[in-house]
Formats: sequence, C-alpha cells, structure tokens
Amino acid sequence: MEEVSELEQLHGEVRVCQLCILSQSRRNAVPGEGPEKVDILFVGEGPGFHEDQQGRPFVGPAGQFLNQLLEGIGIKREQVYITNVVKCRPPGNRDPLPEEIAACHPYLVRQISLLKPKLIVTLGRYSTEQFFPGVQISKIRGRPKKMGGIIYYPMFHPAAGLHQPRWRKVIEEDFARIPQLLKEAEKLGEDNEPPSDKAEQLSLL
Ligand code: URA
Ligand code: SF4
Repeated sequence: MEEVSELEQLHGEVRVCQLCILSQSRRNAVPGEGPEKVDILFVGEGPGFHEDQQGRPFVGPAGQFLNQLLEGIGIKREQVYITNVVKCRPPGNRDPLPEEIAACHPYLVRQISLLKPKLIVTLGRYSTEQFFPGVQISKIRGRPKKMGGIIYYPMFHPAAGLHQPRWRKVIEEDFARIPQLLKEAEKLGEDNEPPSDKAEQLSLL
C-alpha cells in the first residue's frame, strides 16, 4: 500500500468534507497546494469560480496577479503553500459566514502545524482576522508580527489590486519585503531572546 502523508490525508478529508453548508453548493473543495514543508504559507479568503471549477487555489485573475507578485520577488509558486480560510466557494462569491469560517478553521490549524512555515502571509480581511482578531487590516497591513515562532504578515488581498492601481502599488511594495522578512525570520529563529522582545523588534522592521 502506498504511504499517504498527513498533508495528503488532510487534503482528502477536505475534498469530502461536509462540516458546513458550503459543501452543498461547491463543485470542488480546494484544500490548498504546495510542498509538504514550506518557508512561506499564503492564506487567502476562499475559492472563487475558477478555483471551485479546478479544485486548486488562486488560479483565476487574482491568482495570476499572485503569480506575478511571486515572480517579482524571485520565488517560485511551487516553493510556497497556498490555501484559504474557507476551502469551499461561497455561492456567488459572497463573504464567508462566521460559522463557515469556524467549521473550516481546524484544517488551517492542522496545515500550519504540518507545513511549519516561518512566514504566514495573510491575504485580505478574513485571513488577517484569523490571526489578528478584531484588528482592522488597514491599520496593520505591511506590519509583520512574530507570534509563537512564526512571522505573520498581513496584506491587502491581491484581488483588491486588480482594478485599483493605488492598492496594486501597496501590495507590490508589501510583497517586496518578503525576502528580507524571511532572512530576518531565520536570524530571529537562532537567537535566544524571549518571544515578546522578538515581536517588538519585528514591528519596528
Ligand atoms: N481569492 C481567494 O481568496 N482565494 C482564492 O483561492 C482565489 C481567489
Ligand atoms: Fe468543510 Fe471547510 Fe468546505 Fe465547510 S468550507 S465544507 S468546513 S472544507
């Protein structure tokens, strides 16, 4: 019998999941994709039309922009893991509901513990809310924060940049800092200072 990794096992569970009502209208669940261990994890909001059709994250217009952004900083899409807060498409691309987000949350928690990323980039309001509850994204976007050994880096959603040149520029600038942040993450990982001090240092970066 072939070995199934824990990540593949999780992908399988998501594909047949019926824990919330989104399972009834989806065509395909979209667990996420990427290597088994990564430095960077991207977390979007939820699958859109194209993602639902293909069962893959960020393959529509926002995904093309994400690919360009990655290319711009010399990172290959195959090197990172990409997923969403909810793994099934909300009908008509409506916002995900609190109960849907809550039902899906354990998958994200398991993905983080399996993938062991150094950097988690939260794309958009819903993703950012998972890690910075009650904080407005416009107040913290572009400000990395280290918590529990992981740097969380909130950003606007790439879809926001598609039709808004002003936001596109902000997203590109925030993206441009990723390589340096990753280096910082490695450096901070080696020293022995308490986590609170590290968080302080990072917010000053
Ligand atoms: N927008 C998202 O938030 N996620 C996707 O996978 C695609 C578009
Ligand atoms: Fe399950 Fe998440 Fe899909 Fe809801 S959105 S059915 S919790 S995988």
